[in-house]
Amino acid sequence: MTIKDQVKKIGKEISPALVEIRRYIHQNPELSFQEFETTQYLRSHLQKIDVTVLDNYAETGVVGLLTGNRSGPVVALRGDIDALPLKEKTGLPFSSVKDGVMHACGHDSHATVIIGAAMILSKLRDRLPGTVKFILQPGEEKNPGGASIMVKNSVLKNPAVDVIFGLHSDPRFRVGEIGYKDGQMMAEPDEFRITIKGKGGHASTPHLTVDPVVIAAEVVMALQKIPSRLMAPYDQVVVTVSKIAGGSTTNVIPDSVKLLGTVRTFDHELAKKIAHFMRQIIRGICSAYGAEFDFEFIYGYPVVVNDKSATQFLVQIAGEYLGENNCYELERPSFGGEDFAFYLQRVKGSFFRLGTGNPEKGITAYWHNSEYTIDEDALAVGAGLMAYLAYQYLAGQKK
Ligand code: NI
Repeated sequence: MTIKDQVKKIGKEISPALVEIRRYIHQNPELSFQEFETTQYLRSHLQKIDVTVLDNYAETGVVGLLTGNRSGPVVALRGDIDALPLKEKTGLPFSSVKDGVMHACGHDSHATVIIGAAMILSKLRDRLPGTVKFILQPGEEKNPGGASIMVKNSVLKNPAVDVIFGLHSDPRFRVGEIGYKDGQMMAEPDEFRITIKGKGGHASTPHLTVDPVVIAAEVVMALQKIPSRLMAPYDQVVVTVSKIAGGSTTNVIPDSVKLLGTVRTFDHELAKKIAHFMRQIIRGICSAYGAEFDFEFIYGYPVVVNDKSATQFLVQIAGEYLGENNCYELERPSFGGEDFAFYLQRVKGSFFRLGTGNPEKGITAYWHNSEYTIDEDALAVGAGLMAYLAYQYLAGQKK
């Protein structure tokens, strides 16, 4: 039997176990950097299949190491494990038992896929020409990103990783399909916080106040001119004010208003320029009306840049495993962010999208939505593809 057929056969056999694992994680979600129970649960699964557990790269998260009986290079497969502060509304029988915490970005499925790949490869250990590192990282959703912590603590070393692959669930693709992209794939997601500090008073005497509500409104509108008037037409930039908070009632002008938001770019230098323009605009408007301000710009994850050769390899292997017609090149990069970027700064690799959508079953909701879920048939597909990818990489590169 070929390796591909063997991987597919094992994938099919473990599919019910993967569904069970995903449902357990889904039902018991934990927020970024608080994934203590999830870590325990994943660790126990790695131990069950006799994968060496390494767990001192971050407070939560766990890494598994599977060394084949033949020496060779090291492939890393990465999954993230954290959930989001969101109230689940899927109505699934295994919905979150934690009010206001939900796996709304599919990280439950990513963790499961990586465990599944470990289960498959552990059964092929005798034939495995090298080492596979299974990185189950915490805190993808929260700065500074679990990946940055694990990388800082040498997760890519000892043994040194030669190539890394990661995936993200994607409702735009069906089960059995993937989306890939060479080069820039996801944006640098920066955050900002602004406080406009005016002078409050009675709402009937605006002339005796410095009204931060009106000033904030002007700031929001002016910031929209950064992409349209201060950036070149070919620059790809998003400036979004996502929260505005101030005031309490109809007849009081408040002392201050807070604004929060995000900036997305594909170029760190451009992000620095935008931060500069923002400060200039805020300062100008505030000074015109006599208000003070605080402005904080927090740089986020780097741009996700996929390696050309690793992506070509992914496309070739995924084509063999899923069929060439099921591998779609993404037309444009996404303005979402991903801390997988930190691994790609150190080693070559490729991040791709795994089809988890199914319109017939009503599985169409996008990420970070209270109705987000996946078609569970994707779990065995993802696990099999990851396992096959790792195996073939090792086989092709064996020393
Ligand atoms: Ni995500």
